[in-house]
This record gives sequence, structure tokens and C-alpha cells, in this order.
Amino acid sequence: MSELLQLKDEASKELSNAEDLRALDDIRVKYLGKKGLITSQMSKIGSLPPEEKKEFGQLVNSVKQDVEAAIESKKAELEIAEINQRLKTETLDVTLPIRPQAKGSIHPISKVMDEISAILSGLRFEQHDGPNIEDDYHNFDALNIPENHPARQMHDTFYMPEQDGKKRVLRTHTSPVQIRAMQGKTPPFRIFSMGRTYRSDSDQTHTPMFHQVEALFVDKNVNFGHLKWTVNEFVKQFFEEEKEMRFRPSYFPFTEPSAEVDIGWKDGKWLEIMGCGMVNPKVLENVGVDPNEYSGFAFGAGIERMAMLKYNIPDLRQFFESDMRWLQHYGF
Ligand code: DAH
Repeated sequence: MSELLQLKDEASKELSNAEDLRALDDIRVKYLGKKGLITSQMSKIGSLPPEEKKEFGQLVNSVKQDVEAAIESKKAELEIAEINQRLKTETLDVTLPIRPQAKGSIHPISKVMDEISAILSGLRFEQHDGPNIEDDYHNFDALNIPENHPARQMHDTFYMPEQDGKKRVLRTHTSPVQIRAMQGKTPPFRIFSMGRTYRSDSDQTHTPMFHQVEALFVDKNVNFGHLKWTVNEFVKQFFEEEKEMRFRPSYFPFTEPSAEVDIGWKDGKWLEIMGCGMVNPKVLENVGVDPNEYSGFAFGAGIERMAMLKYNIPDLRQFFESDMRWLQHYGF
């Protein structure tokens, strides 16, 4: 408990020294992020003897709330300071002529989505769309992620107000489009989907909004060999060269078996680029497809990550900061 109070003191000291919003965000991640110092104290509660649980739990919660509140108020303070500073230093000369080269460019995310769309269409996958505001049936249940399943917690979901008794979320992945494409229809299915996805997570390698691509193939006698060939072809066409690949056993509730795909990068390094697997028979059952007659594979990848790898873009957050210099440099 004294460790906790010490954490709180340290956090408030660091907060009072924070000079800008970036620094403030670093402090938030350090204490309250997924692996943050206070967050990891919370996970200790479970392992405490019952008589200590209550007191410790209450203290952790109140420390967490205090630090959250302190961050919020510091944030408001810094935002105002930043605006005042900009008002002082930025002048706007409305008599300047327009910029001679104020031409638009294609954002790297759009560019990569166009490339992927061309590759998957070439492999005769058909593009499908789904809503960004999903219900929890399509986002979770139908994909074999029941309520209280730990995989739900892995998804840092943004919850929306219920509508017509339906729980709604901002979709945490593009996999629900698999369900929408199959429901009430008969195989074969050979579809892909691309678009925005959302998770309540923000640090150097996560933005609350990001993009994914998802592919699904269901027919008679589809096997893991088909999956491997397709992924290999997809990766080869995307990077415009043959890449070394390895399939690492993994777990997703909607595939069985599941794997993560790594590609051989520079200096003998392996980089993870997607999740995949054979469609779990339970998912087929959920959409009324007989798993004894049909089988399939699916894969899903993050667009930002693919863009960063292909076009040597170092920082994820800049994708969405609308900085003209960045757009001119990385745009197409
Ligand atoms: N939906 C998964 C995620 O967001 C990614 C994924 C993994 C998609 C395996 C798939 C798959 O289609 O088969 O983490």
C-alpha cells in the first residue's frame, strides 16, 4: 500500500513538471497504460489473501481515479497554454497569394488499400463492407467470442449506447464482415473487407482508430495448404518480391487451428504481419453453414503496419495528424 501512495506522489510530481501534451501522454501511458505502473498494481488484487483484497482494491481504485483526474486537469491547463502560445506566435497574413503547389496527394493508407484491393480482386475475392458501429453479436458472439470470454478483454472495446435492446460497439476488427457476408447464404464464399477499426488504446504503436483487411474463403475441401498459398501470394504481390514466411501457432476464437504469419525482414529479423487460420466450425454453424460439408480459411492484417513496412514510415501516430509536410512527403 505504501508503494501505491508512493506511485501517486511520483505521478503528481511528474505531472507538475510536464511541459506539453506529448509529455503528459507519456505520463498517462507510464502509469495508466496497458502495462502501466498503476495498472499492473490492479492486477495484483486477484492474488492477495481475501482479508487484504478489499482495502487494497479500494486504495488502488482511488489512486487510479486521483491520477486520472490530475491528468485531466493538467491536460486542460496545457491545452489552454498551448492555444495562448499559438495565438501569440502564429500570425496569419490573409493577403498572401495561394500556395503555388497546393496539390492534393493520395494518403499512404488509401494507397495501400487500393493496392490490396487490386491484389485480392485479382485472386477473385469480392469486396464486402460492414458498418463501423457494430452490434456485439457480429463483433463478438458470432465469431465465437462469448461474453466473459477473456478474448473480449483483449479488445479494449469502445461501447456505444444500446439501441433497440441491442448492445453496440465500434467494431474492434473487420472480422464481423465475415459473418455479414455468410449469413443466410450458401458457399462458396470468397470475400475480403477493408476499413476502419477502433480500440480504446493510444500510445506509440496504437491509435484509437486504425485500419484492417480481412479475407475469407469457404468452399468444399478447403485446407491449410490453400491458406498458405494464398497468404504467400498476397504477401509476394504486396511487397513486390518473394518474402521468407513462417506460420507460428497462435490462438483466435474464430479460427482453429490459428497461426500468426511472420515475414523475414532485414538482419535475420522476423516481423509479424497477420493473423490467420482455418475457420472455426462453430463460426460456420453460427451462420447456418454445415461444417461437415464445408471448410474455409481466413486472414486479417493491419493496414498501417503494412504501409509502414512497405514505404518505410517510422511513426504510426503521424498517419492521422494531417501535417501537410508529412502528407507531401509520404503521399502519392
Ligand atoms: N481479427 C483479428 C484481430 O483483429 C485478426 C485476425 C486473425 C483475422 C485471424 C482473421 C483471422 O481473419 O483468421 O486481431
